[in-house]
Amino acid sequence: MKKVITYGTFDLFHYGHLRILKRARELGDYLIVAVSTDEFNAVKGKKCTYPYEHRAAIVEAIKYVDEVIPEHRWEQKIDDIQAHGINVFVMGSDWEGKFNELEEYCDVVYLPRTQDISTTQIKHEIRHR
Ligand code: CTP
Repeated sequence: MKKVITYGTFDLFHYGHLRILKRARELGDYLIVAVSTDEFNAVKGKKCTYPYEHRAAIVEAIKYVDEVIPEHRWEQKIDDIQAHGINVFVMGSDWEGKFNELEEYCDVVYLPRTQDISTTQIKHEIRHR
């Protein structure tokens, strides 16, 4: 079985999120999504609208997703890849080249972002309507 993992915050779940999860799942047979915890978002300087429990529940309900795990810190990726027997690590193209050191452990794939949508943009548009 080919196992895929990807990471993200997934706040205000949108079409770009759906598309990356669909394409990530198509790269294998089992998709694990590591969703950033509220504490980790604080470290990243991100403030979410939805708490971790809600974001994780929404991602878990997506049919392309087999399992959700929490993302607590930047450095957990190698441990996750080894603990879950991951074959493919996927990130959006905004992270292009940032995780090439993981190629020692599994395939690393950067998928093109969906154009013209992001959580930041949605928040901005609602605020300025
Ligand atoms: N993503 C994507 N296309 C988009 C937006 C996000 O493919 N239009 C991907 C990102 O590349 C990442 C995953 O979805 O691999 C989760 O991204 P996240 O940061 O949670 O979403 P954003 O909408 O980019 O959030 P923000 O605006 O807060 O950065």
